[in-house]
Amino acid sequence: MNVLWIYAHPDPESLNGALRDDGVATLRELGHDVRESDLYAMRWNPVVDVIGAVPEDVRAEHRKLDWADTVIVQFPLWWADTPAILKGWFDRVFVQGYGYDYRDETGHPLRYGNGVLAGKRAMVIVTAGAQADSLGPRGAHGSLDDLMFGVQHGTLFYTGMTVLPPLTVTGTNRMTPERFDCVREELRKRLHSLETADPLPYRTQDGGDYDRRLVLRPDVAAGQAGYGIHLIA
Ligand SMILES: Cc1cc2nc3c(=O)[nH]c(=O)nc-3n(C[C@H](O)[C@H](O)[C@H](O)COP(=O)(O)O)c2cc1C
Repeated sequence: MNVLWIYAHPDPESLNGALRDDGVATLRELGHDVRESDLYAMRWNPVVDVIGAVPEDVRAEHRKLDWADTVIVQFPLWWADTPAILKGWFDRVFVQGYGYDYRDETGHPLRYGNGVLAGKRAMVIVTAGAQADSLGPRGAHGSLDDLMFGVQHGTLFYTGMTVLPPLTVTGTNRMTPERFDCVREELRKRLHSLETADPLPYRTQDGGDYDRRLVLRPDVAAGQAGYGIHLIA
């Protein structure tokens, strides 16, 4: 496989840095080709100054994405979201005609399960200081699944990618060497099954569950609300 590893952390000596190093080494041992977008090391400019501009640094990221058949997106949870540099990577790289407003020959917009990046697999790796329960369905921080909806569904799935369940590492404020070993093992396991793992069963735009306004038909997940309704139960 050709794997593009997008990494958004300023410190290579951090937990995230250690996981990235181990993950990239694991993929290479498995015989995969890996390219990286290490956003801080690249001094990535995250600011959209001109809408629709496609400068050379953005084109270079398009070439990496076109080459990849799998995309790993790794970041620490910062203020309940991705670090700004990663948000700005999506803002600048997923331009009109590439990330959005990509249409078929009839003018129909392709998104949510179809698009320029259709056929590629994506997986999020996110670390969070808070404990798992407090990032669960009744946790004060909001459920991590919900917090990841924007990047996983609104961005990766929107642009056509098949999204694998994320690797979430919670409670990083209390990381022990033993726990780190477990997390590293889990990461290795997930990388071994990248090609075969079942994706998150998101409903596709054109699969029949949504009407023309992109609203779920009344009989689908009837009486329910929230991000979970966009997953096939
Ligand atoms: C600016 C900033 C914002 C953070 N916001 C959150 C947050 O909203 N929720 C959370 O659980 N942890 C938060 N954290 C903790 C980080 O997620 C945690 O430090 C990181 O996952 C640990 O990995 P690292 O050692 O590789 O940085 C924040 C940390 C920083 C520096």
